[in-house]
Formats: sequence, C-alpha cells, structure tokens
Amino acid sequence: MQTIGLLKEPNFETRVCLLPKEVERMVKELKTNVVFEAGYGSKQLVPDETYQNAGAEIAQKESILKESDFILSINTVYKGQELKTNASFIGIFNLLFHRDRLENYLNTPASVYSLDLLPRTTLAQNMDVLSSMASLSGYKAVLKAAELFHGILPMFTTAAGTLKPAKVLVLGAGVAGLQAIATAKRLGAVVEAFDVRTSAKEEVKSLGAKFIEVPGYKESESAGGYAVEQSQEYLQKQKALMKTHIEAASIVICTANIPGKKAPVLIEKESVENMVPGAVIVDLAAEQGGNCELSQNGKTSEHFGVKIVGNSHLARELSQAASQLLSTNYFNFMKHLINSSKANDPLLEGCMVLKNGKLVHPLFIES
Ligand code: NAI
Repeated sequence: MQTIGLLKEPNFETRVCLLPKEVERMVKELKTNVVFEAGYGSKQLVPDETYQNAGAEIAQKESILKESDFILSINTVYKGQELKTNASFIGIFNLLFHRDRLENYLNTPASVYSLDLLPRTTLAQNMDVLSSMASLSGYKAVLKAAELFHGILPMFTTAAGTLKPAKVLVLGAGVAGLQAIATAKRLGAVVEAFDVRTSAKEEVKSLGAKFIEVPGYKESESAGGYAVEQSQEYLQKQKALMKTHIEAASIVICTANIPGKKAPVLIEKESVENMVPGAVIVDLAAEQGGNCELSQNGKTSEHFGVKIVGNSHLARELSQAASQLLSTNYFNFMKHLINSSKANDPLLEGCMVLKNGKLVHPLFIES
C-alpha cells in the first residue's frame, strides 16, 4: 500500500493542501495510507483528531519523509532529509521563477511535480491549482482595494447629491483579472480591462466591462494559451495608451503575467504621480517583479497619496476557501497520478520537473 505524507507548511502559509474530506477519499477510494505532522490543520482550525477520524495517522516529519511515496505540501519544505527510494514531492513550487528552490531536490532519490506547470487542458481543469488561487486572488484584490480606497465603488444618489461610481481598471484579463472584473461590476464600479490576448476581449465584454484594445500583438501557438513577451515597439504603444486609462482610474488591479518571466511593467512612476490621491493599485504580479514600477513584493506602500499593494498571494487571506479548492485539486491530481498507466502521460510529464533527482522538464533543460 502506498503512503501519502502531509508536511506542515512554513509559518507564512495559512492554507493546507489537504483537508480531512479528501484524506478520507485518499484512504477509501485510492486505498492509500495517509500520515501527517501533528498540528497540520491548526491554521484551518481543524484538530488532529478530525484528520485521524478521516483515516490519517500522526507521524514525525523525519519518518514521514523516510516512509512516504508521495509527499504533499504547498511550499517547498524539504531540507535534504532521508527519503524513500522513488519518493515524489507534489507542490506549487513556481520553480521556473524560483530555480534556487530546486537545489535541495537535485541528486536525491526524489521526483518533483510542480502543479503550477500542469498543462491548462480540459482534462486537467479539476487539478488546476493556478486557476483556483487566481480566482480567489482576483476577488480578494477588489475587496482589498475597496477597503483602502477613499471613495465608494457604486453610484450613490442621496439628498446631498450624487456620488459618481469608481473607475476600476483591470490589467490582464486571465483567470484573476476576469474574477476581479466580475467582483468590481457586482460592487457597482465602472470597469475597463486590458489584455494583450485578443481572445480576452469577448470574455471581458461578456462581464459588462469595456475592453481597451492595443493592436499589433503577436500570439504564439506554442505558448499553450499564455501570453508571450512582445517587441519594444508594441510595449511602447501599449504604455502610451494605457497611461491615460491608468491616470483616470480610482482603482487598478494588476494581474498581467508571463509564466516563468518577469511580469511586464505597465504602470510607470509618472502615471502613479498623476493618479488621484486616494487611488489604489493592487498588484497581483508583485512576486514576478510587478506590473507597477513602484510595487514592493509583500508590502503595501504609498506614493503621492496612492496606495500600492504588492501581493501575489491574496488567496492566503481567504485560507478556508483556498484550502477547500486546493484539497480538491490535489486529490484529483493524486488520483490521476496513482491511476495513470500511460508511459508518456502528458499531464504528468507537463508538471514533472525532476525524476529521481535529475532534471527532466524541457523548460528547465533547454534554458
Ligand atoms: P497568467 O496569470 O499567466 O496571466 C494573466 C493575464 O495577463 C493573461 O490573460 C495574459 O494574457 C495577460 N498578460 C500578459 N502580458 C500582458 C501585458 N503586457 N499586458 C496585458 N496583459 C498581459 O494567465 P492565467 O490567468 O493563468 O491564464 C492564462 C491562459 O490560460 C488564459 O488564456 C486562460 O483563458 C487559459 N486557461 C485555460 C484553462 C483551461 O482549462 N483550458 C484554465 C485556466 C486558464
């Protein structure tokens, strides 16, 4: 019988990747053992007994690492301890951007699957951790901005006069951006959005927002639906047009990203200085450098009266919802991994970075 080990996350993490409901499914449906560190679910207020009642057993970290076939966590928590032969780590390690995180796993007996690299295909939808977290982050970004903003989002008609609705600009209309648009619309704001992918136009419009178009974008079929880096000429044209929209906005939600690359800078210092004091920028791309030149990753700063929130992990502030979605995503991935009989499974190959301590993923070998 195979063993699944659950390791406690680092202190900054509020979420867990497996809740008792999915532990029970691991035990009953996948016929695996599940072992976990004491206090594993404490931040979710889930006591050890609930995990035990679901069929899991408490163990020390060292023995979890030594005896588990699959070790599940969200962040990298392995520091070179002894492992079982053919052990596999499964997490959301963002290794393309943080290659240093690979060091502890290289030349060990372990394989590493990083779920942020799963191909965005229909088959992988129920394992898509990026979409789960991006949806929550997009929603939370608007709530955070609304709280920090000095005005209100909807139009208010009162006996003392009418307050105009806030203008919300969403940069990048992927999963997080679309959720931000929907949330801002629900709160009554006037919303416009921009994305380089022309396919985003219909989605933006269907949510009732205005789409800002910058012609001349070059798509790449090999990018799997993701955006690709553009020419300097296109970026200049884009910046000039965006500047007027940014300066007129009360709230800007930044979500533009290119996998594994530095995020495109779409808001320059000068534009921030021309925004209305009291305006708010929430930059979800902060971890990869940010869409706003002034964003500081993990910090909220202020420039000329404009608050700038640099946070790519707002889903951590919705830890209950985030853990629930992650738990389902991880269970579905494990079910696929354990039941897969294909020699060349495209989902598994798409997210396997190391096999028995050696780099196997083309994106890591080629660069
Ligand atoms: P992401 O987080 O990598 O990027 C967010 C958005 O930023 C993207 O829409 C991207 O086009 C945009 N962007 C990049 N550079 C930009 C720039 N210079 N200016 C403005 N916008 C820029 O992407 P995300 O949200 O993870 O989704 C990527 C793609 O995957 C989308 O096409 C999405 O529809 C697709 N997808 C497909 C799924 C499926 O099951 N088939 C599931 C989830 C996403």
